[in-house]
Amino acid sequence: MAAIGRCVPLNDGSSIPNLGLGTCSLDKLVKGDTAKAVKTGIEIGYRHLDGALMYGNEDEIGEAIRAKIADGTVKREDIFYTSKVWMTYLSPDLVRNALTKTLKSLRLDYVDLYLIHWPMALKASEKELFPRDASGKILHENVDLRETWAVMEGCKDDGLVRSIGVSNFNRRQLEMILQMPNLKYKPVCNQVECHPYLNQSKLLMYCKSNNIVLVGYSPLGRPQDPALVNTKNPILLNDPELKKMGEKHQKTAAQIALRYQVQRGVVVIPKSFSPGRMKQNKEIFDFCLTDEDMKRIDGINKNCRYVTEETLIDHPNYPFHDEY
Ligand code: A2P
Repeated sequence: MAAIGRCVPLNDGSSIPNLGLGTCSLDKLVKGDTAKAVKTGIEIGYRHLDGALMYGNEDEIGEAIRAKIADGTVKREDIFYTSKVWMTYLSPDLVRNALTKTLKSLRLDYVDLYLIHWPMALKASEKELFPRDASGKILHENVDLRETWAVMEGCKDDGLVRSIGVSNFNRRQLEMILQMPNLKYKPVCNQVECHPYLNQSKLLMYCKSNNIVLVGYSPLGRPQDPALVNTKNPILLNDPELKKMGEKHQKTAAQIALRYQVQRGVVVIPKSFSPGRMKQNKEIFDFCLTDEDMKRIDGINKNCRYVTEETLIDHPNYPFHDEY
């Protein structure tokens, strides 16, 4: 099966496929589910895989990648794997510990892209993702993210990661990195929630003007995730405009939402572990939305965020207090 999508250039000379497979599953996963899904994904043409230490399944992603290399479906260089350093490892002396864990789980020599998962540092912890004090309060850490970034640059220089970037950064936080006096490498991307109900047009413009790729997570609005979705928010895939446009192009609302992004230069990483939906989500390169269609989709933006990470709303670096 041919690789799907188009490669978008990154500001460090590498490139990223504009459609990837998300692997963050908040459903109760049975051991083996991730490996099976990632193998299927690679078989049907996905070459960009998005993961993170936090998702707890990098061992299975590595297993799937290695299996597909071993059976001759792909070579290591055909795969673009993204991982992310979690909030409890943002102290400069801990970043490499997190990366070592990731590489050990994957049993790979490098990751293609390594991101700061959130701009909020939490107290160092090997065991807990959200360390708390006796009263249950999440413990924050005061870390200068510019120092964290300098370590990320070192990981790239050492060949452990090919490219480095950030995730969930607002404009001010991106600027802080871009204005570092000794900046060696700019972030290649900012991975943020992005879909027609949160189209991030201002952040996208800012990123484009700085040659930073915007990678959109939850591009379908997390439709089957009632635990996470803010139930006050409308369901993206039920949107009448997306459905109507789907009928016009003989596509699903999900395919319209994904096509909208790739057409405006956003890289998308829909998560699916269902072979049928993985296939559906890749069938977005055989049609075009018109300028009028694109404008109509722009028009349904509601600045509606599904992933708010509200337990950290009082963190000094909580990114979503700013407009963008
Ligand atoms: P599944 O893994 O069973 O396919 P997002 O990437 O926006 O966070 O959305 C992920 C969620 O959307 C997952 O629960 C996934 O479930 C579901 N999903 C993925 N592709 C589609 C699709 N084409 N139509 C409807 N739901 C989808």
